[in-house]
Amino acid sequence: MNNNQPIGVFDSGIGGTSIWKAIHQLLPNEQTIYLADSKNAPYGQKSKQEIIALSMKNTELLLEMGCKLIVVACNTATTNAIRELRAKYDIPFIGIEPAIKPAATHSKTQTIGILATQGTLNSELFNKTVEMYQDTKIIEQIGHGLVQLIESGNIDSTEMNQLLTEYLTPMIEANIDYLVLGCSHYPYLIPQIKKILPPHIQIIDSGEAVAKQTQNVLKEKVGLSNLTESHPIFYTNTNSKVLSDILENNYEVLYKDF
Ligand code: SIN
Repeated sequence: MNNNQPIGVFDSGIGGTSIWKAIHQLLPNEQTIYLADSKNAPYGQKSKQEIIALSMKNTELLLEMGCKLIVVACNTATTNAIRELRAKYDIPFIGIEPAIKPAATHSKTQTIGILATQGTLNSELFNKTVEMYQDTKIIEQIGHGLVQLIESGNIDSTEMNQLLTEYLTPMIEANIDYLVLGCSHYPYLIPQIKKILPPHIQIIDSGEAVAKQTQNVLKEKVGLSNLTESHPIFYTNTNSKVLSDILENNYEVLYKDF
């Protein structure tokens, strides 16, 4: 394995670019390849077996492209499939799990909220994490419809505002002081969420922690790149406009049938 081989990143669509941005910011000289499996979004309502099969398909494509490490930039795929990926393929995988630990540890009201997909909230991995924080009340909410609206480019819409208000109001009434965003698509909703939440409620997403973990695993197991610059490559299997828009047209987005 050569240190200058790319890092692969995949998600059920465009949301994992929130994770990719944190990785690229921390490790700008690492070559990266991003797969947006928007054709199959959302993963959150699929069965565990379907999520595993889609995650393996994405992994095999990234391996064919020579990736040295893979970041599963999707909470639903991490919580349902990372164990199977690690068992089958001989490269390191970095997953993204809802940041329950920092929220539960710092909460003063001992009440936190988590917004995530059905697939994440029902997963064994998530429920094991929750069991570790018995003293904290965790208000769980499935973000029905949010990923579809983000994938269709309707982030700043009346419908989005209505759904977020419906999902967040019970959490505000329950006196949460931390809101955990348990889906890599949701950081793109932070401006809308901030308009609904009182200012004392802190929002936590996992981007920086995943980037740091990627750096540590590269140092320990695979090696950091010694390139002096990188050329990120983005592939999508649907219309590329939404992905280009979310990247503010700064990078080339290629169509690929996968
Ligand atoms: C989804 O595809 O349902 C959302 C992806 C995620 O959980 O991060």
